[in-house]
Parts: sequence; structure tokens; C-alpha cells
Amino acid sequence: MKRLSIFVFLAAFFCTNAEDGFLPSFITPCELSKDNFKNCVREQIVKSLPLFAKGIPELGVPSIDPADLDDIHIDGNGLKMTFTKAKMHGLSNIQLTDLTIDIGEKEEKFKLDLIGNLSVSSIYNADGKILILPIKGDGDANIYCTNVKVQINSKLNHFKDSKGEHFKLTTPNYKYDIESTKFDFKNLFNGNKQLAETTLQFANENWRQLMDDLAPPVIKQIVKTIVKSINKFFSKVTISRIVRDYTEA
Ligand SMILES: *[C@@H]1O[C@H](CO)[C@@H](O)[C@H](O)[C@H]1NC(C)=O
Repeated sequence: MKRLSIFVFLAAFFCTNAEDGFLPSFITPCELSKDNFKNCVREQIVKSLPLFAKGIPELGVPSIDPADLDDIHIDGNGLKMTFTKAKMHGLSNIQLTDLTIDIGEKEEKFKLDLIGNLSVSSIYNADGKILILPIKGDGDANIYCTNVKVQINSKLNHFKDSKGEHFKLTTPNYKYDIESTKFDFKNLFNGNKQLAETTLQFANENWRQLMDDLAPPVIKQIVKTIVKSINKFFSKVTISRIVRDYTEA
């Protein structure tokens, strides 16, 4: 009985904590009417990005480092390649390079420019050619991408629930750029070292060729994951909690 009541007490405590009154301690609300509003929001984002990526259990925001990716299938230009059990690593070290936030205007917008070193670990299966060189094998794959720049451009819509008004990122679009990529495919050509080394070196010298097919589905999933995570946060916290002097329409 005693244990049960402690449990009930704890459950009540955590539930109250997750009510709208609760903001993670690392977030300070900003004031729209102040000149430093944009800088304030920027500071909050810079401060909370790594914590966000690691997840905020109290708000049901899941950890996204590592983030599970859907299977990736490449089939074209003479190459069939699949990546399964893929995980993206590095989102908790991603950095904010630019921010646009238009709030209180007719069309509210939110634009994030992020840069990070990201890697994908997965199981690959390949059969075909990269440009002129044959590639065949299956095993562990690691893909290291240096200075991946992603720009997420989104409308900021509002929705209401019993606690008040919330933000929601809708119809996000994005652009990306990758500075360089290094592949490491284990067990190419059944472990034939010489063939494997030649092909791997060639793949790394011509990384853009492979990344033209590989990057779009991966970046799409990264953006989806980040937007979902931000929206989870917004769905738990009303606008007036994060923007102190925001007046609901
Ligand atoms: C990524 O790694 C490179 C070299 O390893 C480093 O110079 C660069 O600053 C890193 N970028 C980020 C955004 O951390």
C-alpha cells in the first residue's frame, strides 16, 4: 500500500510536471516586444539543440542521436544497392548557423540553417557498378559526411487545444550541401582485399556520384526527424510559455 501511494504520488508529480506550466530548465521564455527577441530565440535554440537531440523525456521528445533511418534503396545507373538497419549519428553536435523567425506577422515563418558532421552506420548490399568500376558485396557500412549543411524552411502555423495555442511547423522544405564524404564498406568482393581496396578508393574519389543517389532520401529523413521532434515540443508547450508576451488571437 505504501509503495502504491508513493507510485501514485510520483506519477502525479511527473504528470503535473508535463503540464503546460513546465518548461525544461534549459529554456528561458523570450519576449516578443523586446528588441532582442530574435537573439533570445537564437540563444534558446543554440543552448537547447544538443539537449533536444538527446531527447526530453518529460515532454515526450525522443532522442534522435542516433536516429533510426528507413531502409534505403538505390537502383539506377547500373547499380543496385540497399542499406538496412541504418542509424544516423551526430545530430546532438549539430550547430545553428542562421535563424530567421517571423512571429506576429500575417505569415509566420521559421528558417533554420544547421551544420554538422553526420555519419550513417548500416548493413549494405551492393551489386553493379559505380561509374566504371564494379562493386559487389554485403556487410557493415559506415558513411562519414563532413560539414553537412541543411536549411529547413517552414511555415509556422497555430493550433489550439485545451491548454491554449501552440505552434506547429507545416510544409517544411529544405536544401542541403555536403562538403565531403568517406565510405567504408566491409566485406566487398567476399573479402578480396585487392579488389575491395581499389573499389573503395574509387568510390571515395567519386563520392558525389554515389551521394547523389544516397543523400536525398537520408536528408529527407533527417529533416522529417528534426521537424517531428520540434513539433512534439511545440505540442506540449503553449506559445505563451515560450513567448511571454504573446497574445492569443
Ligand atoms: C567537422 O569535422 C571537421 C574535421 O574533422 C572539422 O574541421 C569541422 O569543424 C567539423 N564541423 C562541425 C560542424 O562540427
